Amino acid sequence: MCGIVGATAQNEVVNLIVDGLRTLEYRGYDSAGIAAQNAEEVMIRKEPGKISALQNSLVKNPVSGNCAIGHTRWATHGKPNRENAHPHVSGNAIAVVHNGIIENSAELKQLLVNCGYRFASETDSETIPHLVDLYLSAGNSFFEACRKAISHLEGSYAVAITFANEPGKIIAARKGSPLIVAQGEQGFMVVSDVIALQEKNQIVYYLEEGDIAEVSADNCEFYDSKGKRVSRTGTRLGQSECVATKKDFDSFMQKEIFEQPEAVRATLARRLVNGKVSERLFDKGSSAILDGVENIHIVACGTSLNAGHVAKYWLESVAGIPCQVEIASEYRYRNPVVPPKTLFLSISQSGETADTLAALRFANDSPYLGSLGICNTNNSSLFRESEAAILTKAGVEVGVASTKALTTQLTALALLVLKIGELRNTPDAVLHNIADALLNLPSALDEALKTEEKIKEVARSISRHKSVLFLGRGHHYPVAVEGALKLKEISYVHAEAYAAGELKHGPLALVDGSMPVVVLCPENNLLEKLSSNIEEVKARHGQVYLLADHDISSQTCRGAKNTIEFEGGDSFISPIIFNVPLQLLAYHTAEFLGKNVDQPRNLAKSVTVE
Ligand code: G6P
Repeated sequence: MCGIVGATAQNEVVNLIVDGLRTLEYRGYDSAGIAAQNAEEVMIRKEPGKISALQNSLVKNPVSGNCAIGHTRWATHGKPNRENAHPHVSGNAIAVVHNGIIENSAELKQLLVNCGYRFASETDSETIPHLVDLYLSAGNSFFEACRKAISHLEGSYAVAITFANEPGKIIAARKGSPLIVAQGEQGFMVVSDVIALQEKNQIVYYLEEGDIAEVSADNCEFYDSKGKRVSRTGTRLGQSECVATKKDFDSFMQKEIFEQPEAVRATLARRLVNGKVSERLFDKGSSAILDGVENIHIVACGTSLNAGHVAKYWLESVAGIPCQVEIASEYRYRNPVVPPKTLFLSISQSGETADTLAALRFANDSPYLGSLGICNTNNSSLFRESEAAILTKAGVEVGVASTKALTTQLTALALLVLKIGELRNTPDAVLHNIADALLNLPSALDEALKTEEKIKEVARSISRHKSVLFLGRGHHYPVAVEGALKLKEISYVHAEAYAAGELKHGPLALVDGSMPVVVLCPENNLLEKLSSNIEEVKARHGQVYLLADHDISSQTCRGAKNTIEFEGGDSFISPIIFNVPLQLLAYHTAEFLGKNVDQPRNLAKSVTVE
């Protein structure tokens, strides 16, 4: 999604902006631009495509200044071309970069056209500089003009605005999209993601909903949406929050797949004490949020949603608590019924996904028992707006296709299931088994990573196909869904997942000698049923690839084109472990096809618009 990097300092900042934009590349974008300001003029450069195109343009036509705003755009309104790239300007004096969507832009545009403004782009964002200009022309100060302009915006926004007549000043504001002001040694920065901060150890201020900040090289003042001065507390940024390097790996995704044992270890650390879940599970609020809980609604998007689907199986079978899992963009518009004593649980790696946040806001105004968030980003909107929160300790995840965030979400969910089981009197023996299995999870993940070389062989043959089916049963069904999602996200090979029992109700029609079918084959009470489903595929000459527990019977494997065996672990944690070969499969298929695994086309890391 779009990214913002702005800086105002005592020294030249253009390189700082370009370097910051580079770190935001992982979020997904299709054009980039910069507006640099010195005492004489505002200079704009923007280019469609990669940041390298912008850098080439800056080599040919350099810009300089002590104050600048930069942007990476992920197209929503209008094509990814130079005209639609940010910054947008009014009268070549006001420059604006914007993340989010202005929902009333058509109306605002009409009003501005009636006032004589001409639009150079198809974007919703261009309304903002013209609105600021309109208020400046009416005699308002720069700050007041921005505040009044922003008060007209409906939808979501994070903006940074500069004005030629006020060199060195950036007005920053947010609602529904994250924005951070950071104080460094040479001046201040305004960024949409801390990862864009080049200088470590900065003091960061997370703007709250509706906040406006007036930022200059040596000072920053915060105001609420009514223009009333407010104070915001800064926190010092730790090294780990902003460092993201590939180390010796070919891509961030590959590195993140291999970081999973460590990320899970960190997520478990100090949270399981003598087989019981400690209060440290909660990074905000406490287990009191679970008092009297009788139902759970889980809401999320993408990979986080798949984590929620696994948790439903766990919650109902281990803790005996009814659970409903829902896509955030559906939930928020359908007036869901909230049974008494229902907990709202949202899951999000970024904590900034627009639909998940909207669902959380709806839930906070509904008669839920409380809202609990599982999130990888401290201080994200989801963390701040949930009554209680559990942080996953995956560290920065850069690959657009989520890997270690998922495994740590599942780990946090497993701990939550244990905690709820304790409260609801699940037999101790069951809970102890799960606790032991969780403690063993990091080494089990290490073992699963050893399948890489064998998985490569499967990936080589999968990469020759246009379509793949994934099958699973029980709590491995959502894992099959995640495997299919991963494959299509980064290799663009069409993939679909089915609960294996559904095969004969439709997808079996697709199976012939050219259809690869990847089957998740754990050793559990459903294996016999699953074996029958595998026979159905074999009978139609489908190419069966089994990802299987070491000890499954040779009868099940007979006739499979390829069987990859590994230690799937205890039945409870098995869905977490089975993710690993599926991630490697997607990764190596994409590699064989020469795709950019870290930045798949059309996708964004953090989807901050609806
Ligand atoms: C985007 C990402 C996915 C992610 C989903 C939800 O679509 O590309 O990898 O699963 O958003 O993101 P969240 O940050 O809410 O987990």
